[in-house]
Amino acid sequence: MRKLLLQLDSSKLPSVFDRVVAYDGGADEVMSYGGITPGEVRDLVYGCIFTRGPKDLKNTAVFIGGADMAAGEALLAAAQQAVFKPFTVSLMLDSNGSNTTAVAAVAKMLLGAGGDVRGQRVLIVAGTGPVGVRAAGLFARAGADVVITSRKADAGERARDLVLKRFGGTVRAIAMPDASDAVRACKGAALLLNAGPAGVMLVPKRAWANVPGLKVVADVNAVPPLGVEGVETMDDGVTKEGVVCFGALAIGNLKTKLHKACIARLFERNDLVLDAETIADVARELMAQKP
Ligand SMILES: NC(=O)c1ccc[n+]([C@@H]2O[C@H](COP(=O)([O-])OP(=O)(O)OC[C@H]3O[C@@H](n4cnc5c(N)ncnc54)[C@H](OP(=O)(O)O)[C@@H]3O)[C@@H](O)[C@H]2O)c1
Repeated sequence: MRKLLLQLDSSKLPSVFDRVVAYDGGADEVMSYGGITPGEVRDLVYGCIFTRGPKDLKNTAVFIGGADMAAGEALLAAAQQAVFKPFTVSLMLDSNGSNTTAVAAVAKMLLGAGGDVRGQRVLIVAGTGPVGVRAAGLFARAGADVVITSRKADAGERARDLVLKRFGGTVRAIAMPDASDAVRACKGAALLLNAGPAGVMLVPKRAWANVPGLKVVADVNAVPPLGVEGVETMDDGVTKEGVVCFGALAIGNLKTKLHKACIARLFERNDLVLDAETIADVARELMAQKP
């Protein structure tokens, strides 16, 4: 039976990236819908659950994406409400690569920090986008003292509230208008992740190199100029200036592997829900398999 993936995207144009990875992860067909609102989800999901018998429903799954994390969470909630036993299909949320990218970045940074970040300050620069918000949640869940930066105080506070509502823990937001403010913002951090947009350098080298107490720095921006000056895309746990560094392609390689593995898992059963925590479980399994 053909493996069908329903792609529901909160953005107007359904993500091509997500669609390509869906095929590479094992979907035979991807049905893509953009600009989806929560009120439209139920009938689209009904199209999945009432067309195949319960024992065949593992061959249909739903992937939720889009540029807005809160909108993605609302779509996932609507999809969870629409399904009921035995008419369930597996669901995955990964708005803008939020979960898979954040899980990959956090897993590598945890390794670099020796595995335990309880009570340690984690600074997430430009942490208000989907990737930053999910990374903040994963670090908060691991017991870190999380600080996210935003150019604007109100956007930072909205993101902080989103993280706290979903994950709890200790999360604060501070304003960092631009890279010239990075030295101040980075003070006191043990781990630093740049989650800013493609092609914007937000952390100059002087803000992280040989800074007392700073152990790990990571960047998910793969487009020059890179987000953290001096951290190269392929850095994968290399120590520079006294700090363990992870670049965007080192993180991206794990992210893509993880994203594909998650798509494959959606088709193994009909009741899986892949969100931050369950995607982190898949990452742990993948990393344990690594030779
Ligand atoms: N390596 C990988 O595998 C991988 C996978 C997926 C995504 N990514 C990358 O991950 C990063 C984060 O993705 P995302 O979708 O979460 O990011 P995003 O939403 O595009 O941006 C994150 C935040 O950056 C701030 N920002 C936007 N434009 C800015 C500018 N010109 N200068 C300074 N700050 C700016 C905004 O926060 P405020 O308005 O609150 O300041 C925004 O909320 C991107 O670089 C993306 O390319 C990497």
